[in-house]
Amino acid sequence: MEKKDLLYEGKAKKVYRTDDPEVLYIAYKDDATAFNGLKKGTISGKGIINNQMSNRLMQYLESKGIPTHLIEECNERDTLVKRVDIVPLEVIIRNIAAGSFSKRYGVEEGTVFAEPTIEISYKNDALGDPLLNAYHAVAMGLATWDEIETIKSYAFAVNKHLSAFWKTCGVTLVDFKLEFGKLSDGSIVLADEISPDTCRLWDTETKEKLDKDRFRRDLGGVEDAYAEVMKRLEEHLQQ
Ligand code: TMP
Repeated sequence: MEKKDLLYEGKAKKVYRTDDPEVLYIAYKDDATAFNGLKKGTISGKGIINNQMSNRLMQYLESKGIPTHLIEECNERDTLVKRVDIVPLEVIIRNIAAGSFSKRYGVEEGTVFAEPTIEISYKNDALGDPLLNAYHAVAMGLATWDEIETIKSYAFAVNKHLSAFWKTCGVTLVDFKLEFGKLSDGSIVLADEISPDTCRLWDTETKEKLDKDRFRRDLGGVEDAYAEVMKRLEEHLQQ
């Protein structure tokens, strides 16, 4: 299916219409931002890796019974997805303290939690994606209680499956951010992307960061880290 006019350009992807109103065409970019767009850069080849990694992981999650927006990969950078109304919540699951959690609660980065934890933010760049709770989300009409329950159970299921998957690649899934969308029939599916932009992935042995924190924190070796996790994922999928 061909792409038609540009519908929306985000920080990491462009979204085009297609002939089918229920199908969108996503083109992944190499652009990288951090701190709500304050820091800008390019990670060469990132669009290809994020497109392919997200698609492989979503296929894997589909096989485990988690519905996603994925239809099919068009080429190394582009993918067809189901059109959804994005639920304006960023859902973050954490297995190990890092990033904003460590800062907010004074918990040392690397502290392993007794249980995985979840938080939701209001997806609103102008406000800096503020944290909120489920009561706030329902009060503002961002989602219903039922939708929030569905989203929470999918998010924990994603964590269970992806943590196990990455473990076999010698990678620890520290935390990640998910977005969900609603299909025209109202059902909830996993949307957006799952990539080193949206996950913290640490080498299990060395604890080396293999994700966007290398860009956020100016650690260098950004491209190599993305290529390394992609290589490990592909090796594992071939087995
Ligand atoms: P945080 O520790 O900065 O809150 O990030 C938690 C996780 O969410 C981490 O894996 C990176 C991901 N994330 C995004 O995908 N987009 C964002 O805008 C932010 C702030 C974090």
